[in-house]
Formats: sequence, structure tokens, C-alpha cells
Amino acid sequence: MDLLKSIFSKTVVGLDIGVSGIKAVEVSIGKKVSLIAYNRISLPWGTITPEGTVKNDLAIIGALKKLFSGKSFSTSNVSVGIFGNSVLSKPIHMPKMAKKDIEEQIYWEAEQYIPFNIEECSIDFAVVGNTVQKVVAGTESTIEVLLVAVKKDYIQSFTGIIERAGLNPIVVDYQAFALGNAFEFNYTSELSDLTAGETNVVIDFGAGSTKLSFIERESTVFTTKISSCGSGYSQLISERLGENFDQAEVIKLTESDSALVSPIIQDYNAHLSSEVQKNIDVFLAQMGERSLRKIFYCGGGSKTPGLIEMLHDKYPEQIEPLNPIKNLIVPRSKSNMKMLEDLSCLGTVAVGLALRKPGD
Ligand SMILES: Nc1ncnc2c1ncn2[C@@H]1O[C@H](COP(=O)(O)OP(=O)(O)OP(=O)(O)O)[C@@H](O)[C@H]1O
Ligand SMILES: [Mg+2]
Repeated sequence: MDLLKSIFSKTVVGLDIGVSGIKAVEVSIGKKVSLIAYNRISLPWGTITPEGTVKNDLAIIGALKKLFSGKSFSTSNVSVGIFGNSVLSKPIHMPKMAKKDIEEQIYWEAEQYIPFNIEECSIDFAVVGNTVQKVVAGTESTIEVLLVAVKKDYIQSFTGIIERAGLNPIVVDYQAFALGNAFEFNYTSELSDLTAGETNVVIDFGAGSTKLSFIERESTVFTTKISSCGSGYSQLISERLGENFDQAEVIKLTESDSALVSPIIQDYNAHLSSEVQKNIDVFLAQMGERSLRKIFYCGGGSKTPGLIEMLHDKYPEQIEPLNPIKNLIVPRSKSNMKMLEDLSCLGTVAVGLALRKPGD
């Protein structure tokens, strides 16, 4: 790729390196935002564990080189999402103060909440809003903040892999914030007139985990993940039918309506959908005066036959697919319908990352 072109580039390619594959999205950011390119490549199972540990850096480097070898992307500057056990997010309350003061104070506050050595972490946060809390002597005005801490050595080794593929990671984002960013960009008009406490839930049904982000107006207020996920179906098929994991994955995708496979999928649908419901109930019970507005879903696992129907039974008025290209200008032609369908289901995190600007 042309080095000068990348130095002067105003865009970044959003790079979502997930457990089952890499999705890359580039958009042009002007008055309106248009899609420049989208591409995706699979990774062999086990390249990255669901906990975010990279087991095969060469597989990632090879896949990235392949993904960027064509002419689709105009820059090698990338914005990358990180996830897994090296990242911790926690809602906290701080005394009411200006945003610039939070930036200074948050390190001191973070220390008591984070099980890692704070010196070894990068800290990020999102301001949720002002609240009034009960204290012994009456009430106290506080500010609610979603704190995110990531181990610096994890960021270094992850971005190091990306650099070895010839790319230039200039933004590193928490995957859940990228998910929220894509949601906010596409649903701004719906979000502006919500009342305090009305919460949207975005669920990303991934291969290695199911991620839930709780979003109020334009702020992510809480994030959590469930270990039941897309690969869980394949693991259950593998156990029950005595096939290896890769064969079970193919069976899941090609024989889901067979008499042998369908009941296994339905069992796992019941398990996953009740895990989702449990997590939403816990959020509503623990996070103060909040109500559920809508549930938006995305991610490859959401294509599993019967899963969304089961969630629909639980939340008939509230569930709908998240469209990550709703507010993007996208050239539509017969030839790219399949690509757009793929992007709509799998590309939400990558869209959220692509919307970041250098310096974010
Ligand atoms: N038609 C389908 N039916 C059932 N499952 C599907 C279908 N298409 C994709 N999947 C599953 O979706 C998962 C991949 O989705 P996705 O690309 O969103 O995950 P990922 O981003 O790689 O994972 P993670 O977010 O956990 O890192 C795989 O488990 C795959 O088997
Ligand atoms: Mg994913």
C-alpha cells in the first residue's frame, strides 16, 4: 500500500478481529458518511480464544495481509477493537465534576475497582450522566461513569501483530464501545428524545461469546458477556453426534433442519435465550431506575434458526435487528446485495470502529 497515501489519509479502516474471522470496513467521513469498502476473512478455529488470547499470530498476520492485498481499502491506518479477559469494564459513581477533572481523577478512583496493577493499565471511560445517591447524611450528587481498563501489555502485543501485517493501528477501542458507536450513529434520531432510564440493549451473538451493551440515549452504561455463543451450538453438536468441532460447525450450517440436528439447536437456543433474559433481568434489578426499551441484535449467531423467534416470544414488542448501515450512504446494486446482507449482520463492530477518527 502507498505509504504517503496512508500518512495523509483521513479515514481509518475499522478492523474487528473476532474469534471466527476478521471484518474490515472503511467509510468516508464528510457531511454524509459513505461506505468505501467492506471485506471479511475467516480465521481457523482456535486462532484466538473466546477469552481474547492470541494462540496463532501468524494466522492473523496472513489473514490481514490477504484482506488488504486487493485494492478495496484506501489506507493501511486501522482502528482496532479489543476484547477478552484483559479488558475490564465497570460502572462507578464519582463525586460530580467536570469531564476534564474526571480525566485526572479516574486513575485514583479506578485503583479500588480494578484487580490489575493500575500502572500496567490504560484507562478509558464514558460519562453516563448525573445522578443523586442516598448517603448516610442525606443525598449526594454524583456522576455515573463506565470505567474501562485494559492491560497495556495486551494492547502492545495485539497492535504488534497488526503492525507485522504492514498495517498502522492508530485507534484502539473497546469492542463494546465500538458496538455502541455503530448503534448511536445509526439510531441518533430515535435516541435523542428518550427519557432518562430508558435503556436499549444491543446484543452481538458472536462465535466466541455473546456480548450485551446497555445503552441509554447516547451512552453505554453497562456491558457484559455470556460465554454461551455461536460456537456453543457446534460444541453441543460435536458432543451429541461424536463429530469433531470443525465437522460439527459444518453440520450446524448445512443440516440445521434435519431431524437429528434441529433438536440440538433448539435445546441450545433455549439455553442461550434464557441466559440473555437472565442478564437483562440482572441489569434491570441492579442498575437503579431503568426500563427496557428495545433489544437490537447482530452477529453471526443471530442467524441460527429459531433463536430470534425464541427471543421474540420473550420480548414480542421489543426485539429487532440492528442495521449498522441504516445511516450510511451505500451504493446499492443487484451485485452487492449479498455483500450488504453480510455486512449488516456481521459488520456492526467494524462499522463502529471505522467511524472513529485518528486521534480518538
Ligand atoms: N447461517 C448461520 N446459522 C447459524 N450460525 C451461523 C450462521 N452464519 C454464521 N453463524 C455463526 O456465527 C458465528 C460467527 O459470527 P461472528 O462473525 O459475528 O463472530 P465473531 O465476531 O468471529 O466472534 P466473536 O464476536 O465472539 O469474536 C459462528 O459461530 C458461526 O457459526
Ligand atoms: Mg464479533
